[in-house]
Amino acid sequence: MKKIKEIIKKKNKSKIICLTAYSKNIAEEVDKHVDIVLVGDSLGSVLYNYPTTKKVTLTEMINHSKSVRLGVKKSLMVVDMPFKTYATNKIALKNAKKIMKETKCDAIKLEGGKKIIKQIKLLIKNKIPVLGHLGLLPQSMKGKFKSKGKTSREIKQLMSDALLLQNTGVFAIVLECVKTPIAKQITKNLKIPTIGIGSSVYCDGQVLVTDDLIGLNHTKIKFVKKFLNVKKYINIGLRKFASDVKSKKYPSKKYSY
Ligand code: KIV
Repeated sequence: MKKIKEIIKKKNKSKIICLTAYSKNIAEEVDKHVDIVLVGDSLGSVLYNYPTTKKVTLTEMINHSKSVRLGVKKSLMVVDMPFKTYATNKIALKNAKKIMKETKCDAIKLEGGKKIIKQIKLLIKNKIPVLGHLGLLPQSMKGKFKSKGKTSREIKQLMSDALLLQNTGVFAIVLECVKTPIAKQITKNLKIPTIGIGSSVYCDGQVLVTDDLIGLNHTKIKFVKKFLNVKKYINIGLRKFASDVKSKKYPSKKYSY
């Protein structure tokens, strides 16, 4: 709870940094730079080439999260509940408890507002901290990435869902692909922080998929900025290894028993 309180306190003071991790070694590095490490179900497309996140299973999420747990020391660790694992109150509580127990994460994230509010209420009642997710919802998405908050109906829905989530007790809300003025207004309306992804600088924090920003995963999504081309460095090392093996420079005596 202490970490969650610290994150909420950051609103209007300093930006909240959130990045994904799917395994221990990346989690260890991510943990040094963020407030929240998210085991996102984006791992379905990033690691397994699934066409959507709908194919991601609870077992996959739990296994990756167990590995991430080994690398996260200081940040808040949040795990995505995959598609259909929170379809009813009973299913949601059973699966959320399983995720919390087996991964030892600090909180979970569910996609949606009013439609899943009963499940969120029940989890919070059972002392399971919840991170909300509004705007573009990959688990319900059909077709391409489209921004949200374009029509007055969408705007009304987003505004009321954000307030409903806050009043139900989520500690922050991810806003994905929400139009700038709407993300700005929601952020202003709420006491809890918003964490944007493709939703403008006006959000209280930002989240990205780590593999995208370091250039390990190739994607053409508008909000992804490639901050590093890590593949270039990986290839330097791998090329050197192959060349040293071929020239018998490796393994020298130093590296042999
Ligand atoms: O699955 C994921 O990684 C996410 C973030 C990108 C917000 O939900």
